[in-house]
Parts: sequence; C-alpha cells; structure tokens
Amino acid sequence: MKIGTIIQRVESCTSTNDLAKIRAGEGAEEGTVIISQEQTKGRGTKGRNWYSAKDKGLYASLILYPENPDISLLPLMAGLAVKEAIKESLRISVGLQWPNDLIWENKKLGGILCESDFLGNRLNYIILGIGLNLNHEKEDFPPDIRSLATSLKLITSKQVNEQALLQSLWKALDHWYRLFCQGQGMRIAQAYERNSLFSPGDKLALENERGEFTGIYRGINSRGGLILEEGGRMVSYFSAQIKAIIHE
Ligand code: BTN
Repeated sequence: MKIGTIIQRVESCTSTNDLAKIRAGEGAEEGTVIISQEQTKGRGTKGRNWYSAKDKGLYASLILYPENPDISLLPLMAGLAVKEAIKESLRISVGLQWPNDLIWENKKLGGILCESDFLGNRLNYIILGIGLNLNHEKEDFPPDIRSLATSLKLITSKQVNEQALLQSLWKALDHWYRLFCQGQGMRIAQAYERNSLFSPGDKLALENERGEFTGIYRGINSRGGLILEEGGRMVSYFSAQIKAIIHE
C-alpha cells in the first residue's frame, strides 16, 4: 500500500510513535500514518523530549514492516523524503545531518525517530516518527531551545500549507521506501551524501558510548553507516551523534 493512503488524525496523544505501536500490534497496514495536532510526551533521539506545541508542528509516525534488514537506512531515507517535500512545496533547500537531523542555518528544523520491535530476532515492525517545525514563532519554543530551533514559518515568513507539504511528503516517502525495499541502499547513501551538511574530507567530532572522538568523514555506506577515517583506518558508525563539523 502507498504511504499516506491511510491516515489517522488525533487531536492529542503522548507520542504518535506510541499510538503507531498500538496500531502495528493490531496489524495495521504497512504505510499507515498517525498524525497528532500535539504530543504531551513527544520523544526525540537519545532519550530527549521532542517539544510538540499544539497546531504548530508536524508530528507523524509511519508503520512499516520492512524485509530489508538494513534498518539504519530508514532515518536517512525519511530525511531525504522530508527534504524533497520541503523543496517541492516551499522551494527551500534544508540540510541533512546524519543520521536524523534536518537543519537550517545551524538550527534544528526537524528530526526522525525510528523505533523497532523484534519478536525474538525477527523484526516485527518499525515506527518511523517524523517531527517538523512548521508554524512556530520564536516564542512558541521553550526558552532553552529558542536559539537552537527554527520553523518553516520563521524561514519563509509565511504560514505553511500543511496539506501541500504532506502530499509531497507521502510521494517522496513512497519513492525512497520503495528503493529501500528493493535493496538500493547505495542509491539512498549516495543521495544522502549529496544532500549532507558536510562533505567527504571534513573533520567531524562524534560522540557515542565510548566518549567523544574525531576523524575525517569519508561518506555513508550502503547500510546507512557513517564512514570515518581514524588514524588511517576506515570505521563505520551506525549509532553516534555529531558534536561538531570542522571544515578545513
Ligand atoms: C530527534 O530527536 O531529532 C527526533 C525527533 C522526532 C520527533 C517525532 S514527532 C513524531 C514522533 N513522535 C515522537 O514522540 N517523536 C517523533
């Protein structure tokens, strides 16, 4: 089924990812989308909150049952789709920061939270959560993130037409998810590299459970991992956070 054919809208929920998990457990069709006008406990990556003011942002979760095991590609393909949808509907080019950030002029515009459920070692479902700041004014963000976040309205000085954006988003998600299902990881990785905020050769500071470290960015591999050259050795990371990009 095409992504976005079935959309369930609610006024409020803790997290659209929570609702989507319930629907997936009930056997909802692949491509079903849950959208909420607000979230009372929106989640970001790394256990952070995702601030989800009423009627200001897009809070959406997709239910997927992929057979391709390279699920680290999913936040990347979703980022590409959101970027394309923004480009098609608003004519602006936002940046992607591996693995799940949408950035405009160093400020966070949106992010992807991919959560998986396994039955034993078999993947049961994936919930792909998309958060995008649409119509926030500066003061709609809490003071602690005000200087770090932005919205499409702040960028364009215009109220965002959510319907137009969503039509482009379902089309783009459908395209990239189809490629993912066909095992075209390299095409996703290459497109991500072309749209990334940093380029091969840039120095990156990354952080993971072993602490902070630096290396030279060499690209994205066909499974969605970030390739870092560390002292002449190529290492692929699937879970790490970018702390700084040092353009040299
Ligand atoms: C990030 O930290 O960058 C990821 C943010 C993801 C937020 C979205 S909003 C819809 C879905 N429901 C959630 O609770 N989180 C995701």
